[in-house]
Amino acid sequence: MSYKRTLVTCALPYANGPVHIGHLAGAYIPGDIYVRYLRMRGEDVVFICGSDEHGVPITIKARKQGVTPQDIVDQYHKVMKDAFTGLGINFDIYSRTTSKVHEKNASEFFRKLYDDDKFITKETEQYYDEEAKTFLADRYITGTCPKCGNPHAYGDQCEKCGSTLSPEELIDPKSALSGATPKKVKTKHWYLPLDKYEPWLREWILERHKEWKTNVYGQCKSWLDGGLQPRAVSRDLDWGVPVPVEGAEGKVLYVWFDAPIGYISNTQELLPQSWEKWWKDPETRLVHFIGKDNIVFHCIVFPSMLKAYGDYVLPDNVPSNEFLNLEGDKISTSRGWAVWVNEYEEQFPGQEDVLRYVLTANAPETKDNDFTWKDFQSRNNSELVAIFGNFVNRAVVLTHKYFGGAVPANVKPMPIDAETLASVKPCKEALEKYVETFHFREALKEAMNIARIGNKYISDMEPWKVAKEDMDRTASILYTCLQLCADLAIAFEPFTPFSAEKLRSILRVGIQAGTDHRAGEGTPTENFYKPGEGKAVHTVPSAIPSEASVSLTLDWSMLGAAELLPAGHQLGQAVLLFQKIEDSVIDAQIARLEAIKAERKAAEAARAAEEAAKKVEAQKPEVTFDQFGAMDIRTATVLAAERVPKTDKLLKLTIDTGIDQRTIVSGIAEYYSPEDMLGKQICILANLAPRVIRGIESKGMILMAKQGDGKMRFITPQEAVTNGAQIG
Ligand code: MF3
Ligand code: ZN
Repeated sequence: MSYKRTLVTCALPYANGPVHIGHLAGAYIPGDIYVRYLRMRGEDVVFICGSDEHGVPITIKARKQGVTPQDIVDQYHKVMKDAFTGLGINFDIYSRTTSKVHEKNASEFFRKLYDDDKFITKETEQYYDEEAKTFLADRYITGTCPKCGNPHAYGDQCEKCGSTLSPEELIDPKSALSGATPKKVKTKHWYLPLDKYEPWLREWILERHKEWKTNVYGQCKSWLDGGLQPRAVSRDLDWGVPVPVEGAEGKVLYVWFDAPIGYISNTQELLPQSWEKWWKDPETRLVHFIGKDNIVFHCIVFPSMLKAYGDYVLPDNVPSNEFLNLEGDKISTSRGWAVWVNEYEEQFPGQEDVLRYVLTANAPETKDNDFTWKDFQSRNNSELVAIFGNFVNRAVVLTHKYFGGAVPANVKPMPIDAETLASVKPCKEALEKYVETFHFREALKEAMNIARIGNKYISDMEPWKVAKEDMDRTASILYTCLQLCADLAIAFEPFTPFSAEKLRSILRVGIQAGTDHRAGEGTPTENFYKPGEGKAVHTVPSAIPSEASVSLTLDWSMLGAAELLPAGHQLGQAVLLFQKIEDSVIDAQIARLEAIKAERKAAEAARAAEEAAKKVEAQKPEVTFDQFGAMDIRTATVLAAERVPKTDKLLKLTIDTGIDQRTIVSGIAEYYSPEDMLGKQICILANLAPRVIRGIESKGMILMAKQGDGKMRFITPQEAVTNGAQIG
């Protein structure tokens, strides 16, 4: 199959927090590298992204801040768009799932599947808050974690022990909206019966896409082997695209149904006339860049939606990275454990490429990986500065010193020169192979190898020494070095576009970087980019002409050629491509993270102190010895146990107290079954005045220990004692 065009998407990030380095490393930098590379190779590419502005977490954030969900997404949409632009991630459009085009499009997509009978409906029971008069998303239910006793767990997960939960598992569930205990109420939803698509998915992915990255293929296989279930595509929520059928009041499309349709909507917004060829012509290749938590949605759910719809192309590849950790810990927006891209851009102006470089060199391509500030510093100082920057600077400065800044003629060549230039070819070929198979860190290594070749060559040839005796030979050495500099200006364009541009300004050359679609078609909307926005903006000394005034243009096919810059070509002035990063800068970043850790520890300690204080408050007033002595506490054994009919909590126990056999009704059925209790030795308060509970006379009380998590446990003697032994 050959292709005419490539549609590249990056996952639409949720507009509920700024972009961090984990996002960048996972999907956005690889996507941008890929697009830049394809464009340099002359391919027609559209690059689509935008904010994902629906979903429950956005409503929660809004509620916490006392603003509307719209306020939240307006705020973060802008922050994210600017962050991407600042790093040179050049989407053709960065739109939003609250756009008019999208709401209409997502709604129509649902409606078509609905009309074509592609959904099933199911009635389930969902927690409902009677005070707030609304169904509760799992995140809106809090309670005690059944696994670790954390009293602040959510209905979908416990952030303390990391367990995935369902709201049913929470002990003592409460609505986060009103504090009320939620009730189960029936509700109807639409489901996409993924099970029906399973045979097709198995064939399509497991047989026909064996080339997908192993981490992606492996995750798909394990989902498919586990068997697919119908997936709900609607929710009871008031934020999202309304379900466009009758009887669906108060229901919206599930965010994971509407968001991927956003790729289509955003293409439509950009290219209202020609979008269909990008989505429906089989000669379009669709590639989704995503993080690993998105794999199932992009490889299984969205393709099933597209298949159900009918005439769309399916993804040809879904390159996904694993997670990037930060200084050994999982990146977490809610805990503030992240390096935010907008902050980075403020703190490291002009060093956008360093982040691009480090996140690519250290990308979590096949397994989770760690970002550390020390590694960031050392990759900058010992790779970008010491190898790439140093080589270019020496070559250009010496050319100015000995040849007035013009590329010298190759008057005294030696075999090593041509050999050195020829050794770029294998790097080029490897680089191409790696980019085309989505192995960007390996690809970057190949680009860096060209810099290493140059750096070694100039160090071995020592033109500064040769210049003392042999200007002809010096000319040939520098001629060779400058060809390598031009190679670097091409090879680094996809990875570090700002520095590549700076280098081209120094070399006074332009580049054929292909054309983008930022101008769109028809009337631009507010989600378009303004002309020039997001292009590399660097303060380059005015002595260096802008690319516009250069006559020489490089292109990808010249990479590794014998001559890229002809003799006599005039260079601009040398400026440093990269700056050394000092320890103090790195120490400040590390200190910032340590402060976050310390703050978190302090908050945890405060919480623990609060819990302890509650226990102290629960202390009872002092009693006299006689008051205590008045209580007849004894050991006893459970002879029989049964549930009290029509109750959830009560067990009826027959007890041997050593003095008699009697009945005690105890509220422990939630924690112990009748079988659990049978034959157990326990402690009882024997002289408690009898009470009638549910028509049963209960004589005495079983002593239970009640823990912080609300769970009750009975007290049993460590060693067997006879029944009726008095405790005191
Ligand atoms: N918002 C999702 C996330 O950040 C990604 C959505 S990708 C799309 O994990 F397919 F829905 F667009
Ligand atoms: Zn827990």
